[in-house]
Amino acid sequence: MDANFLHRLAEVAKQAGRAGGQRLIELRDSFEVSEKGRHDFVTNADIASQQAVFECIQSAFPDHLLMGEEGDNHRPPVDDDAVVWVVDPLDGTTNYLHQFPCFAVSIAAVQASRPVAACIYDPLREHHYWAAAGQGAWLDEEPLRVSSTGQLGDALLSMSLPPQVQPDSPDLLDFLTLVPQCRAIRRTGSAAMNLAWLAAGKIDGYWARQIRPWDVAAGVLLIQEAGGVVSSPLGEPFDLWQANLTAACSPAVHQQMVSRLTR
Ligand code: IPD
Ligand code: CA
Ligand code: CA
Ligand code: CA
Repeated sequence: MDANFLHRLAEVAKQAGRAGGQRLIELRDSFEVSEKGRHDFVTNADIASQQAVFECIQSAFPDHLLMGEEGDNHRPPVDDDAVVWVVDPLDGTTNYLHQFPCFAVSIAAVQASRPVAACIYDPLREHHYWAAAGQGAWLDEEPLRVSSTGQLGDALLSMSLPPQVQPDSPDLLDFLTLVPQCRAIRRTGSAAMNLAWLAAGKIDGYWARQIRPWDVAAGVLLIQEAGGVVSSPLGEPFDLWQANLTAACSPAVHQQMVSRLTR
């Protein structure tokens, strides 16, 4: 893909993020909730945002494929040349329900299982975190760079838990292992915002064992383009469709996290 086309994909990702984010803002005092499972919610705002995002992408690229969390969210069967847009129309639904100010629209254009252009849009702050493969990552007009933290002991980490957490969940074991080893751990309730903040140098490391492709597709590209490292929790190459992840600002922090995560 040439640089111009990648920039066009990223521009459409930004427009689509804004369109979805506007719906989230319009509905935030009047949404209706239903329960998908225990502690797992969806609102009409999630659905309205996905519709707005899809309309925006479809009008720019009618032949591209769409995959979003709401509705039919299976991976489309495609060859490696096709572009698939992987969309989380509201990442942080529980925060949205509680008016906890941390949620985002996450959008990635993916080719051959690799995110090539992306935007995480934070509608409360009107921030676009965006990237194009090989071109860099930005917060609006400002280039993004991961932090220079070189030791786990100095690192602020974050993590995501799935909606239903079991007492013996490996994520919790990892939490107990890592908390005395790092400066502090946050759990914000939005995987996408965690990853955007890692790319922006506000968080030094992140891990999740049970996440979905739409939670991380955009964030992974942002982190790579901002100079960070991503892999599976055990240090193998990141696989979007496995959707578990360890990400860090530097190879040293990444290595120190991976070596301590549960085997
Ligand atoms: C959730 C958020 C949360 C993470 C969950 C995700 P949703 O996404 O990213 O931080 O812990 O695993 O399911 O359902 O709010 O889009
Ligand atoms: Ca959800
Ligand atoms: Ca999500
Ligand atoms: Ca969601």
